[in-house]
Amino acid sequence: MKTQILPIDEHSLGLAKDIIIKGGLVGFPTETVYGLGANALNDGAVKLIYATKGRPSDNPLIVHVHRDYDLSQLVTDIPDYAVLLAKAFLPGPLTMVYRSRGAVCPTVSCGLDTLAIRVPSHEGAQRFLKYVNLPIAAPSANISKHVSPVTAQHVFDDLDGKIELILDGGKCSGGIESTVLDCTGPVPCVLRSGLVTRDMVAQVAGECDEYHMVEGERVRSPGMKYKHYSPRCRTALFAFDDRFKALEEYKWLTARGERAYIMCDDEVARDMGDAKILSLGGDENAVAANLYDRLREGERIADIIIAVAPKKQDGVMVGVMNRLTKACG
Ligand code: TXA
Ligand code: MG
Repeated sequence: MKTQILPIDEHSLGLAKDIIIKGGLVGFPTETVYGLGANALNDGAVKLIYATKGRPSDNPLIVHVHRDYDLSQLVTDIPDYAVLLAKAFLPGPLTMVYRSRGAVCPTVSCGLDTLAIRVPSHEGAQRFLKYVNLPIAAPSANISKHVSPVTAQHVFDDLDGKIELILDGGKCSGGIESTVLDCTGPVPCVLRSGLVTRDMVAQVAGECDEYHMVEGERVRSPGMKYKHYSPRCRTALFAFDDRFKALEEYKWLTARGERAYIMCDDEVARDMGDAKILSLGGDENAVAANLYDRLREGERIADIIIAVAPKKQDGVMVGVMNRLTKACG
């Protein structure tokens, strides 16, 4: 199969719609990471997502819809706080889990009675979702366990020959996957941290819990238990306070002829002398936006990525540290 990367216009959207309707897969941009989309009403198409990514069959998918889509077709029991949250944050990088109506095929939610819904804000995503006007099941468009893609080229690098079309909407501005929020209880609960932080949710909803996996308990968000986001090179992770140890490690490895790079934000970089840097940028939003791009760059050019955590650990950094730990820890 030949994989095309096309800019988003009438021609490519027409092609995308044909592919989706016949049960195929389309790579498309969102403001977080690129998605690998299929018609959520077509069981064969949804199964193809799992096969193409090599995704474990008990890790449910998010359904993506355009901003005018009538959610009551898909889910039920939408609590008042969720209406407020949707008003405040959608379209945007927030996925909300509700009771499913059972309209999409059960493979999407791996048999759970809930359904995760996302309304992305990326203009290209909105155009694609409007054009097909179907609920689109989509995980991140990477091979399972690899780093999520934030450019059309990243999708191509993982899925060349496996899908027909990648819609190119440029580099994703957000850079880490959406916040996943359980909206089935009396209080919303963060299942996966992202750019919409727990504090932001609490400010609108009054309160917000955060889910922590308990050993032996049945997980509420099955995706949490899997290894994720790994670059295809060696990695090491140092805390901010250990940044000079990271520099020692870098010097030791470099002296042995290894291609080592330090991945860090600008504040840490100022202490790293003339070490080779994979730069995450200055503030927390830049760090989120650059993280996956630098991990993918690192695996191309380095034998080992030595990551140093930023000093700031709250807000958006909760989501960033979650990914950084899984990628490099
Ligand atoms: O930003 C994003 O969310 C990207 C873009 C493409 O939209 N998508 C994404 O999908 O990250 P994926 O498949 O890589 O991650 C989906 C996450 C997993 O952690 C999964 O367990 C959780 O959402 N999830 C999906 N359905 C769920 C449900 N019904 N209940 C609880 N968690 C669910
Ligand atoms: Mg993923």
